[in-house]
Amino acid sequence: MDSVQPADAQMMRRHWLLLGACGWVLLILMFFSKFINFGFKIPGYTGSAEMIVWTLSSVATEQPSLRWPEKGATRPYVLSSVSPSVRELPDWQSVNEKRLELLSTVCRNSSLWNLTHTTVRKFVLDRIFVCDKHKILFCQTPKVGNTQWKKVLIVLNGKFPKIEAIPENLVHDHERNGLPRLSSMTDIEIHQRLNSYFKFFIVRDPFERLVSAFKDKFVKNPRFEPWYKHEIAPAIIRKYRKIHHDDGKRVGLQFEDFVRYLGDKTGRQHLDRAFGEHIIHWLTYTELCAPCDISYNVVGHHETLQLDAPYILKAAGINDQVSYPSIPAGITDYNRTKVEQYFTGISHRDISRLYAHYQGDFSLFGYQRPAFLLD
Ligand SMILES: *[C@@H]1O[C@H](CO)[C@@H](O)[C@H](O)[C@H]1NC(C)=O
Ligand SMILES: *[C@@H]1O[C@H](CO)[C@@H](O)[C@H](O)[C@H]1NC(C)=O
Ligand SMILES: *[C@@H]1O[C@H](CO)[C@@H](O)[C@H](O)[C@H]1NC(C)=O
Repeated sequence: MDSVQPADAQMMRRHWLLLGACGWVLLILMFFSKFINFGFKIPGYTGSAEMIVWTLSSVATEQPSLRWPEKGATRPYVLSSVSPSVRELPDWQSVNEKRLELLSTVCRNSSLWNLTHTTVRKFVLDRIFVCDKHKILFCQTPKVGNTQWKKVLIVLNGKFPKIEAIPENLVHDHERNGLPRLSSMTDIEIHQRLNSYFKFFIVRDPFERLVSAFKDKFVKNPRFEPWYKHEIAPAIIRKYRKIHHDDGKRVGLQFEDFVRYLGDKTGRQHLDRAFGEHIIHWLTYTELCAPCDISYNVVGHHETLQLDAPYILKAAGINDQVSYPSIPAGITDYNRTKVEQYFTGISHRDISRLYAHYQGDFSLFGYQRPAFLLD
């Protein structure tokens, strides 16, 4: 190996030339990236609170392992209103801090008060699951992957050794899955936990969430949940279906009926009582989790779950015990086309009423007002 063949030498020289050229291209790119806006917002996130969110794919490819600031370490980057290049990815901690700042600002806004505040009564305590072993409270909000979170907590509580070992029919059976509700405890136990445990929940764009709930509960009509089709849908149709000439063709609950029901702030209360717990799929996040009345440590976003999930595990101090099941790329992205499709043909008045009811959720969590539906 002491002499190199001429052909080999030539090839090596070509390799080095190529490598050098690549280096230059990289340097030039890095220079220009300072001026080019690589980061862009996921639709549905407001820019108002200087909340900047990078696309999952760009973040995932450029930075496979999320940087984690050590306690006391100075932040290597600052979240500003100027989009940084992907090389200056902010730590997720500051993203969460921005979210909590926005939350507390909106919570104090008196003009939204009734849409952002609720009493922490039994209904809310029913939504919150307890992991005593690791001092964690998790408020369940459907349609954001919460089944996976419950599995994570069930494993942490020790009833099952790993996520795969949990029988599917046991995940939501809280008598037997070893994941108690906060409501099952005494007042003193409840206050103790609310005051000292790590608390989190996950949200997503409010209108897309309603589309997802509608699709799941009334269109796909799961066999195991017949009450949506046989009880809830007929009751909503009776009260909210507009008389159409082509009524005969409209089978089952239409999204329009659903929107009219949801936007009827006072009229729906009677129905909601009759529907029982099933309404958790479309109640506001305020009604479910009382985000202004319980001080949560983290509010995860479904749209960025790929980054939020590991952050939450780390923040809760359980990242070495469990991991969140992998999330296929793209499936949590906000899909404006889908939202537009569902709202097509629904009157401006009905959409405005719906927005008026969910405005608290839009504002609290930094989701942009859907101007494309409202203006
Ligand atoms: C309170 O909320 C309303 C409605 O979203 C908004 O117009 C107003 O600017 C907010 N006030 C403050 C002080 O942020
Ligand atoms: C909030 O609700 C209370 C009682 O239900 C009502 O008196 C008040 O006018 C409402 N405030 C707003 C801003 O709508
Ligand atoms: C968005 O939704 C539309 C309509 O449902 C669908 O055709 C499209 O494939 C979706 N886009 C993505 C990126 O999932």
